[in-house]
Amino acid sequence: MATVIKGLEGVVAAETRLSNVDGLAGELTIAGFPVETLAPRASYEEVLHLLWRDALPTAGQLAELRSKMLPQRTLPPGTLEIIKEAAVARVHPMDALRMGCATLSIGDPAPDDSSFAANLDRAIKLAASFPTIVASFWRLKAGQTPVPPRDDLGHAANYLYMLTGQEPAPAAAGALETYLNTVVDHGLNASTFTARVIVSTQSDMVSAVTGAIGALKGPLHGGAPGPALDMVFEIGRPEKAEAYLKAKLARGERLMGFGHRVYKVRDPRAEVLAQAADALFARTGDRALYELVQAVEKIALRVLEEHKPGRNLQTNVEFYTALLLHGVGLEADIFSSTFAVGRVGGWTAHVLEQQRDNRLIRPASVYIGAFNRQWLPLESRRESAN
Ligand code: ACO
Repeated sequence: MATVIKGLEGVVAAETRLSNVDGLAGELTIAGFPVETLAPRASYEEVLHLLWRDALPTAGQLAELRSKMLPQRTLPPGTLEIIKEAAVARVHPMDALRMGCATLSIGDPAPDDSSFAANLDRAIKLAASFPTIVASFWRLKAGQTPVPPRDDLGHAANYLYMLTGQEPAPAAAGALETYLNTVVDHGLNASTFTARVIVSTQSDMVSAVTGAIGALKGPLHGGAPGPALDMVFEIGRPEKAEAYLKAKLARGERLMGFGHRVYKVRDPRAEVLAQAADALFARTGDRALYELVQAVEKIALRVLEEHKPGRNLQTNVEFYTALLLHGVGLEADIFSSTFAVGRVGGWTAHVLEQQRDNRLIRPASVYIGAFNRQWLPLESRRESAN
């Protein structure tokens, strides 16, 4: 009988030039750069070029990419209509993003063109419009009108501007940009794998990215930072952390922001984000929260080691995501969508990579059901127990 590898743990299903996750050394390389080098220095647009073209852009290439992205920041009317409906229905922000994203194939000038150039244009459209979808939905849901994008602001600063209607402080825009760069790509994580599976059937990029949003929504993947922040606020003071965390584990709950399928040491992205949060909070003066988060982390790691000895449940990216995004002024409900605003760069790059050297992704399963059941006519059937 075939061995079932549940959760495909350890299965190598693709070659990629986009990122390397070394879970034992705690190292993340993004297209050749350690995340610690790339994330705090690059603009998000530079990282997009790096992933899509496998090279940092020259000044001319960067200007060209920006000029292609700017008009795509404005949503097509059909997309805005769906977002309005979603706001009226008060759906989850990730559902609104999924619905908005799905409409982006409307108006594709050549839907059957699967050339690299056509797909790059789709990638540009997706990456450029995500912040507008998220921000427009957010404002509409709060009873406010969407704020049109501003061409003179970079990707991260413009996202914050569209959320708040105010030009963000450079420190906040810089911290958000570091965040978007930090989470842009991360090996064959669940949402990226989803995107690659979809496009491996020779489906299209918008379908692949729409599916990836669905995968990212779950609390085991991109849905953790909101609950992680709630947890820190509920704890409130370091003295309360141990009892709170132990009670949570005793109820069989997981500590959000800890544990990872690949990392058995501290997630290197947590350190990049902790440093960015440290710099941001030093400016805004809200040191108390930063210090509380650090104290909770320390106690959580000890409590987790006692709870699952030898499992090496360490801090993951989501714990400091919560702190950083809160620091730049975002509310917890929008954290996962902001993750998608960053990760769309990786999803689209993986789609381009999969398309370059495609083979249908189609694993096998082991059948554990019955054979040769007796067929009964409808009137002779009884309800089964399950
Ligand atoms: N809190 C408590 N226990 C945990 C945690 C946690 N955060 N993480 C893992 N465990 C326990 C599990 O209960 C399990 O114990 P068991 O085997 O005795 O049942 C053991 O550690 C191993 O856990 P798995 O779920 O098998 O590990 P997996 O590799 O599948 O999980 C995951 C990784 C999903 C991230 C997990 O650690 C988790 O649920 N963490 C909390 C949610 C979270 O922070 N998600 C964000 C991840 S980062 C990202 O996707 C961007």
